[in-house]
Amino acid sequence: MKTCIVISGGDAPGINAAIDGYVRLAARNGDRVLGAQGGFAGLLDNQLVEIDPALSSLLAGRGGSILQSSRAPALQQPDARERLARVMAGRGIDNLLVFGGDGTLRHVYPRLGAWGLPCIVLPATIDNDVAGTGYTLGHDSACNFASHALAGIRATAGALPGRVFMLETLGAPTGHLALAIAYAGGAHLALLPEYPLELDWLAARLRRIVERDGYALVVLSEAYPGIKVLLEEIPQRTGIRIRHSALGHAQRGADASHKDRRLARDMSRAAWRAFKDGLRQGVLVAREGAHFVHEGSLPSLSKPPPDRDLVEFVNQL
Ligand code: F6P
Repeated sequence: MKTCIVISGGDAPGINAAIDGYVRLAARNGDRVLGAQGGFAGLLDNQLVEIDPALSSLLAGRGGSILQSSRAPALQQPDARERLARVMAGRGIDNLLVFGGDGTLRHVYPRLGAWGLPCIVLPATIDNDVAGTGYTLGHDSACNFASHALAGIRATAGALPGRVFMLETLGAPTGHLALAIAYAGGAHLALLPEYPLELDWLAARLRRIVERDGYALVVLSEAYPGIKVLLEEIPQRTGIRIRHSALGHAQRGADASHKDRRLARDMSRAAWRAFKDGLRQGVLVAREGAHFVHEGSLPSLSKPPPDRDLVEFVNQL
């Protein structure tokens, strides 16, 4: 069996561990693995590399991906289907192992399915916003990275009180990542795009928290509407200084957590097994206890918004 690994869209911590797991399993069983350099755009251009197991094991725990990705909508090109078929036949590729998030599952996977190409998608994104799976690879690592930042901010906030601290996380248009970080980190408030709060209410709440605890710790999703206005208005309405830190892409490039390293290996084993068992197309989804099963397709609907009860609990609404 010869598999080609493709990273599609944003990378996520744990991808390297999954690549390493798959490559080593393949080598042990006499299978071959190639990697597309530059996502599907690279695959169409026949940019394929052999993956050196010594390199993949060395970098298994590191963030990013040893195979470069791409966000280019390469498969939408009119001749994409023919080019892909030509590359796969030319290089003797039997199937594709694809890492991707919400966009890949919505736009790329259905296309590969319609073209009848054997492929398995491993949902991988720090955002944990893919419908139909309980977990996406990389989410735990991104939460871990944020929890260190939150702890540092809490330490300095307590030492020099009287301020509001906003820690901004990635998460694309959804607040799943921010809510997970806020809840586990014991933040005073979580500001999520799905549940915007009224500015006057927020200002009054922050003032009360600072009076009570000495400081306010807020986790803010990057897609929260009107961040700039918020950062200007809160100090004006409360007289309290505000300090804003954005985790940015450092969060996405974080080293993989133990959980992600383990799940990555579980995923790679499940994918290899599924190919061996003759599965032609599937998405590996996490069920209870992070047990991976494959589904032929995922719901076409978006993942529901973050759990309202949990948001209300964190924000004490
Ligand atoms: O989807 C993963 C993600 O890291 C989001 O959290 C973030 O909004 C986005 O990708 C950033 O994308 P880019 O690397 O293209 O700026």
